[in-house]
Amino acid sequence: FTAVLDASDIEKGTYPHYMLKEIDEQPIVIRKILKEYSDNQGELKIDQTIVEAIKEADRLYIVAAGTSYHAGMVGKNFFERLANIPTEVHVASEFVYNTPLLTEKPMFIFISQSGETADSRAVLVKVKELGYKALTITNVPGSTLSREADYTLLLHAGPEIAVASTKAYTAQVAVLSILAQAVAQSKNIVNGIDLSHELSIVANAMDTLCEYREEYEQMARDFLSDSRNAFYIGRGLDFAVCLEGALKLKEISYIQAEGFAGGELKHGPIALIENGTPVFALATQENINLNIRGNVKEVVSRGANACVISMKGLDMKGDAFVLPEVHPLLTPLISVVPLQYISYYAALHRGCDVDKPRNLAKSVTVE
Ligand code: G6P
Repeated sequence: FTAVLDASDIEKGTYPHYMLKEIDEQPIVIRKILKEYSDNQGELKIDQTIVEAIKEADRLYIVAAGTSYHAGMVGKNFFERLANIPTEVHVASEFVYNTPLLTEKPMFIFISQSGETADSRAVLVKVKELGYKALTITNVPGSTLSREADYTLLLHAGPEIAVASTKAYTAQVAVLSILAQAVAQSKNIVNGIDLSHELSIVANAMDTLCEYREEYEQMARDFLSDSRNAFYIGRGLDFAVCLEGALKLKEISYIQAEGFAGGELKHGPIALIENGTPVFALATQENINLNIRGNVKEVVSRGANACVISMKGLDMKGDAFVLPEVHPLLTPLISVVPLQYISYYAALHRGCDVDKPRNLAKSVTVE
């Protein structure tokens, strides 16, 4: 197998780090995915055999690790809310030795940027032994997980060099949305979403977000300069993005960072809040906006330095950053962007090796 690469794909060009380049590339990646998954009429399209395999399943099992697991959490929302298919998301390393009780007709979806993660592969081997069908969503054609699964969907994100995953995550979320919508259409479910149009809006929103680098750098200074730890709170889709935001920060800046569901704060994590503790809160969902605002008040009254990132239309006075409006199901594609930049600048300010953080590997081929 020979990969066809454009030199511009693998060179940093004027960028100081691959991570910054890859964050900036996200609008291009979304547009590339729209192109790759559209037919001649400009309609989004997924291979019908894959759609049928998913339609036949009584439950989907998404299996992944790290950032890809967080994309899977978002994907669950797509399959359940757009296509009406019960979906579970599992950490690969847990699934392989603690396999949950499976339904009669399960279908497996492996999400992996590299297509080489050993934990995910161990599950795939087991799934194949049991005789079930599997789809791999990966950035690397010909990768192990792609070769060994029944079906593959490619991310078309171009090579991701920085260890901390950014554009592969947004590509995964975008491809999962297209897949879920293709299944919904094939089941004649009318949800009124023109996904192609909504994803174009996302790409434009990402373009806008890439213009605020100075603001993100300042936010990294304001909220993270002397912190030992940082917390991310959100509910629903925002919770998944909080886990990803916290992972990005811990991976490259070594600040201890955790994501919590807003409602769980009072059941433990709030004990960690001290004077000046940075708390990033996401508020992109109308149905939980007031709840998350309530959580912000709770942490602020205990001394937290709260950084609220909200979506236009749901924003309130004092919010640190307001995201452009996109479809409520697609907010994980844009709320992650400021968090990626903030992690990048926090790591930079601490003099960390942004692209090659200590103790981490881009692709983990041991269980
Ligand atoms: C490693 C990387 C992470 C990545 C995870 C899963 O831990 O450092 O950035 O999210 O593997 O990798 P995959 O290639 O399966 O998506």
